Amino acid sequence: MMTHYHRPTFGSRLGAILAAVGSAVGLGNVWRFPYEAGQNGGAVFLIVYLGCVLLLGVPVMLAEFFLGRHTRRNGVGAFAQLEPGTPWAGAGYVGIFCAFFILGFYFVVAGWTLEYLFQSLGGSLAGKSPEQYTADFVTFIRSPLRPIFWAVVFILLTQGVISFGVKHGIERAAKLMMPLLFLLMIVLCVRSITLPGAWAGVEFLFRPDVSKLRDPGMFLSAMGQAFFSLSLGMGCMITYASYFGKNTHMQGTALSVAALDTAVAVLAGIMIFPAVFSFGLDPTQGPILVFATLPNVFSQMPLGTLWAFAFFLLLVIAALTSTISLHEVVTAYLHDEFDIRRSTAAGIVSGTVVIFVVLSSLSVNPDNSIAIFGVSFFDILDNLTTCVLMPLGGMLICLFVGWRIDTRILKAELTNKGSAAFYFFHVYVFFLRFVAPIAIGLILVYEIAGRFSPPPPPETTETVVSTIVLPGVLFPA
Ligand code: PHE
Repeated sequence: MMTHYHRPTFGSRLGAILAAVGSAVGLGNVWRFPYEAGQNGGAVFLIVYLGCVLLLGVPVMLAEFFLGRHTRRNGVGAFAQLEPGTPWAGAGYVGIFCAFFILGFYFVVAGWTLEYLFQSLGGSLAGKSPEQYTADFVTFIRSPLRPIFWAVVFILLTQGVISFGVKHGIERAAKLMMPLLFLLMIVLCVRSITLPGAWAGVEFLFRPDVSKLRDPGMFLSAMGQAFFSLSLGMGCMITYASYFGKNTHMQGTALSVAALDTAVAVLAGIMIFPAVFSFGLDPTQGPILVFATLPNVFSQMPLGTLWAFAFFLLLVIAALTSTISLHEVVTAYLHDEFDIRRSTAAGIVSGTVVIFVVLSSLSVNPDNSIAIFGVSFFDILDNLTTCVLMPLGGMLICLFVGWRIDTRILKAELTNKGSAAFYFFHVYVFFLRFVAPIAIGLILVYEIAGRFSPPPPPETTETVVSTIVLPGVLFPA
């Protein structure tokens, strides 16, 4: 409970930005964003997504930064300190549960990236037919032990970094891995756009087809994607901001994180779509894009094994800096509030998460029937977090900071006691009080109404494959 008096801080401004960027950039950018953009019309989705990041993501992120640095506490402690003895701490608990549940399925997908990195290293990813790539992927994720083994390896990697602490673990890992990630992405982008016929992929991503704007669901999935991708609504940015120094420029950091996260998502699109179009593949095939389609693309390129290795290394890095931040949300809570040593707290989190991971990995195989009301455990964790807990947490954060915090305190914190300017501060407060909660409310209603109503039966083979592969993304009938 008392340890926050000796709160560690990130060593530099750049370290703080990179740690937050490391959290934001993850499977959500490299794997989920291209898949969402592919299914929602490419360029129009990108435009709506950019709007959401700017109008919704940045204000919510600043609110989380305020809570974290002002209180220098974890996601629960921040609320408890500002409004002691009120139910507001509940908003913090939503975040703790949410982090836990996301880890339950995120580690499973992160484990898949390790398997593919391993396969690309051994060269066994090369030289198959397109159908074989898909079939092998499905066989792999449905097997009982191998995916769990890799998920546990990923948990151990995460735990290793976390127990080194904030400066020597989290910050150092981010400083090392984020530049490497950018470098790899740029190399892969150049490779992708120089393939023959790649231009169609670039046009798909950047030339808007306005007729697609009529689908209201697309606006809402873009908002959801922005939320997930920026790690908002579950205390992650509160926890990281509690390690910010007194001079960290709050608005600048929020804008940098949002800009870099968006840049990585766009780069992922440039990396994937031109290659997919160049090989005449379907951009709308969803979750299998990364694990089944891309190895196929790599195998047809000169030095394919090398490209595959670089790509899956990139995915592992992106996933690791995100699992670190998710893990830290719970670790920091246990460490601060119960005065448990960091490494012990991290061990407790990892040990408990293993149970979730085993159940969610096994539940991907329908034969194991680890399901409640016919929904697999993997899906339950996925849907509960992205559809309910993250938007709910985000809405509560906006309402709390917008209505319960004295605007003078808010302004002082966000301007480092007046040393930085905050133009349009009142517009920002208006966003927190009205615009953001209403928008998030729409996501919540849409997600619950849309996801929990039975979807139309699959019409094409691709849809069937996608539904089998990642039921959390395309809800199965
Ligand atoms: N933003 C991460 C991604 O895009 C996922 C994440 C969500 C990380 C919530 C931390 C907190 O993959």
